[in-house]
Amino acid sequence: MSILIVRGGTKLEGEICAQGSKNAALPILAASLLCGRTVRLTNVPRLSDVANMTAILCQLGCVIQQDGDALTIDSSRLTTCVLPERLSKEMRSSIFLLGSVLGRLKEAVATYPGGCEIGNRPIDLHLQGLKRLGAEIHEDGGRIRIKGGRLKGAVVQLDYPSVGATENVMLAACSAHGETVVQNAAREPEIVALQDFLNAAGYHVNGAGTSTVVIRGGGTPHELEYRIMPDRIAAGTLLTAGAISGGNVRVTGISPDMLSAVVDKLVATGCKVSSEPDSIALIAPERPKELERMDTLPYPGLPTDMQAQFFSLCQVADGTSVIVENVFENRFKHAQELRIMGGKNVIYGRTAVIRGVDKLFGAKVTARDLRGGAALVLAGLRAEGVTVVEQAEIIDRGYEALEEQLNSLGASIERKDN
Ligand code: UD1
Repeated sequence: MSILIVRGGTKLEGEICAQGSKNAALPILAASLLCGRTVRLTNVPRLSDVANMTAILCQLGCVIQQDGDALTIDSSRLTTCVLPERLSKEMRSSIFLLGSVLGRLKEAVATYPGGCEIGNRPIDLHLQGLKRLGAEIHEDGGRIRIKGGRLKGAVVQLDYPSVGATENVMLAACSAHGETVVQNAAREPEIVALQDFLNAAGYHVNGAGTSTVVIRGGGTPHELEYRIMPDRIAAGTLLTAGAISGGNVRVTGISPDMLSAVVDKLVATGCKVSSEPDSIALIAPERPKELERMDTLPYPGLPTDMQAQFFSLCQVADGTSVIVENVFENRFKHAQELRIMGGKNVIYGRTAVIRGVDKLFGAKVTARDLRGGAALVLAGLRAEGVTVVEQAEIIDRGYEALEEQLNSLGASIERKDN
């Protein structure tokens, strides 16, 4: 158990480089297993979710070496098609491995995955997609056994543009015979990154970034080195931290195109934002303006992974804001924690009404999920006194030592491990 002790009241200032992307690294790690060749990934973020994924790969027979921010994965000799239960339960992204393991071993056995408790998070779209490719699925208690001796390309129409289901079907389709067309595919930049990786490895994928992704099965994978893209959510979190603290920060190593919905909302709160081809600079007002309405949506809409951070920003805004969470049904757990700090907010189902307060007060609060935990740290930056964020290890799932990143911009945050 870790706690973060945040001393509020400092305006963040300075420049920081965005970390590598969690949501790109995880499916690309799964794709590395599919290749069956030696893959070297660079700019891999040091996160507990990444450590979990590599531990699962090792249990499946991969040999992995770490060297700074690089991972070298040799997946030539897989030893089992059974995903380890405990690790898979800890991380929802283990589900990506179904498509890859199926492609390599023609069979995969998994347990229902875990992850942040931000809603029901079923995997029906993943399973329906694999079924369309000819996989046979048997569910028994919490176990799923999938057989796919002869996967065949097909049209997979997703009922919802699920990021994970799009990626899983892309991975399975690489080893299917013939062409797969994913319709209503998610359009997130991380899906484009997965496509780039797969093509660089010798597969044939196009259309990522649009609603239709086409995969021609049966490539000849080869060894490769690939750099993980920067993390747009971590970058957005740092900008929002600058905004809530009333500071002046620049995040480098990130393309502003990926963050345009986030930047639009920061501008709406009164921040002055200027973009260069690979950096974003922000000058915050003394007090943010309220957001009349903010809706989370699939890309290119405002990411649900930025909702909690904006919630904290709105909590100290000069007015009342409305946030509608359209992607996950239970993603307002930070709301009650912010109330402990003196925040005023009311939740009606998927809608939050947030009355900005002059001041938040330092208090003991709990990180209930990854982004909600980060949002509490951000609130602590603005609070009077000391905020203690418990269960801070949840934040380490997606941020490379968030406290060190913020301290490099002038924050005063200390970690204690119990
Ligand atoms: C990915 C991201 C996560 C982000 C989310 C939405 C990774 C590792 N994680 O998660 O950070 O918050 O996208 O941008 O990339 N759904 C179903 N059935 C399914 C799959 C999903 O109903 O089979 C629902 C989910 O419950 C949720 C919505 O679809 O309500 C979006 O989920 P999805 O896009 O699949 O998110 P993830 O891939 O899990």
